[in-house]
Amino acid sequence: MNDYDLIFKQVKDVVLDLISKESNLDGLNEIKNKYLSKKGEFSLLMSKIREATDKKSFGEAYNAARNVIEEAFNAKFEQLRLEKLNKDLAKEALDITLPGVNYKRGVENPFYIVKKEVESIFVGMGYTVETGPEVDYDKYVFELLNIPHDHPARDMQDTLYIDDSLLLRSHTSSIQAHIMEHANGKPIKIICPGKVYRRDDDDMTHSHQFGQIEGLVIDKNINLGNLKATLELFAKKMFSKDSKVRFRSSYFPFTEPSVEVDISCFSCHGKGCNICKGTGWIEILGAGMVHPNVLRMSGYDPEVYSGFAFGIGIERVAMLRYGIDDIRRIYQSDVRFIDQFAKKVED
Ligand code: FA5
Repeated sequence: MNDYDLIFKQVKDVVLDLISKESNLDGLNEIKNKYLSKKGEFSLLMSKIREATDKKSFGEAYNAARNVIEEAFNAKFEQLRLEKLNKDLAKEALDITLPGVNYKRGVENPFYIVKKEVESIFVGMGYTVETGPEVDYDKYVFELLNIPHDHPARDMQDTLYIDDSLLLRSHTSSIQAHIMEHANGKPIKIICPGKVYRRDDDDMTHSHQFGQIEGLVIDKNINLGNLKATLELFAKKMFSKDSKVRFRSSYFPFTEPSVEVDISCFSCHGKGCNICKGTGWIEILGAGMVHPNVLRMSGYDPEVYSGFAFGIGIERVAMLRYGIDDIRRIYQSDVRFIDQFAKKVED
């Protein structure tokens, strides 16, 4: 106890009493301002030091009283802060038993389900995925694929031209031409998925815009047997373990020999049903050995290199896989149709 303590005791007791009775953070801050701010009633008591004979003892008494008030203030502040926090938390409590808002999830279109599946089968066989422009030059869509101007084979695909040399690509074989042009005569093993466009009238099996996946392998000693084995493995993985592949001879200007490829019907296993129209076989793609002219035009010596190529119609595979009766359903955004694939994906 020091002689000056009594000077501060009266105000100190008042402030401590106010602090102890205060139940609100704002009110507590007001008390702090009123007494402890620079011009606060308690702070101003320090000016009396001028009249004190023992200034050191006066200062010590002032500081001791001020510390007691500040400690009381800090303790009360912490108590009121916690009380407010708990009150706020109680107010904001979530009722996790309330039913949530049920947002309807979109379903992947069967086009993309099949596209991804075909890609993953070929990537598993060591192919890399390449893409190319949808608007392309005649040179890549036709000329480098052994279809010169005025060649009757141009009639095989009704095309949509933008000007004399630029068109919407009518098949993904154009991507082959780009990749071969830049491969500097090196081996190639690629698949090229993409949209293609034709001036076809839309019907149950034809669309003016559809998807293809092109495959191309170029190396030494590649033969028709390699093509058949590759497509057989693809059919087994895509459709069923006992799928068989049948080649029928055909014509494409960029392959020689050329084939149409059928798979044994995955539904009736060759017995004949309405999906395979009673034949036991379903056509899925065109293919063949890369024509020597195509190899030569892209800088490969056909005496040293050979290759095979194929072009799969994505919607056609989706139609077979899921028994879709009309290609147009894939594009009509009918939720009742699309929703069925949610189950198919989960299966
Ligand atoms: C071609 O487009 C060749 N470029 C395929 C090819 C590539 C042959 C490499 C040899 C070597 P085609 O016009 O037959 O061929 O089309 C290939 C596949 O695309 C068809 O088997 C079919 O599945 C699909 N297709 C063709 N036209 C349409 C169409 N209008 N709508 C939907 N799918 C179609």
